[in-house]
Amino acid sequence: MGRTAIVTGGTRGIGAAIAKALKEAGYEVAANYGGNDEKANAFREETGIPVFKWDVSDEKACAEGIAKVEEELGPVEILVNNAGITRDAMFHKMDSAAWRAVIDTNLGSLFNMTRPIWDGMRERGFGRIVNIASINGQKGQMGQVNYSAAKAGEIGFTRALAQEGARKGITVNAICPGYIATEMVTAMPQEVLDKHILPQIPVGRLGEPEEIARAVIFLVADEAGFITGSTLTANGGQYMV
Ligand code: CAA
Repeated sequence: MGRTAIVTGGTRGIGAAIAKALKEAGYEVAANYGGNDEKANAFREETGIPVFKWDVSDEKACAEGIAKVEEELGPVEILVNNAGITRDAMFHKMDSAAWRAVIDTNLGSLFNMTRPIWDGMRERGFGRIVNIASINGQKGQMGQVNYSAAKAGEIGFTRALAQEGARKGITVNAICPGYIATEMVTAMPQEVLDKHILPQIPVGRLGEPEEIARAVIFLVADEAGFITGSTLTANGGQYMV
């Protein structure tokens, strides 16, 4: 049996593509989701991947959820922190609820999810953690002060934890997707997408979720042990660092 992987936000968008690709590559996959039962059940039926509902911004719920996954599928050796939300608004219109929701879900979740699996990875001498950050954590995005701050925080988290895991066989990497064709992006005002975003993408189109999933498969491989603390951009050439 393959190593066990958890993908947060794993039943929709980029997370669903990651979960499916991991399964196809032979891993045992658990897909976490936060709220949309209908989509999660459809995903489970379509893929045969078990789904587990908990809120990644809730520390206790994460510990309980991970314990349940480990009981059913064995120790978690691969963690993909993918779950994320947007609450876009210009800063002069942003309230503290929009700030907190995005920081707690997108960045707080990295602590909540990684801390319970960390000791086991250290003991076993193996682990793969991939954090799905964003181009907007690298360059900043108007209308997304909360999201850009959280995503930049994910990159800092990745770099610090990679140093701690290095001697224990645990790699920690970040992927920074650009604008990918998911519900999160299509929820943007069409005019902003057409006028301000698409013209900035040299490849001339949105990315596909599968184009992020293949980067995850690369980073979680047993053979990828020398790649840690890296930030892999996949953004169609929109921002080069
Ligand atoms: N670049 C340049 N100008 C922009 C802009 C941009 N990206 N976004 C908005 N503007 C401009 C608008 O054209 C508008 O200009 P005018 O007044 O001259 O018409 C001005 O800024 C105000 O914008 P809105 O009228 O849209 O203001 P609003 O208060 O109604 O909405 C907003 C603000 C909610 C932030 C909206 O502009 C928006 O959703 N912008 C997109 C933010 C974004 O890029 N989100 C990414 C979501 S996808 C994602 O997050 C995934 C990922 O990791 C990449």
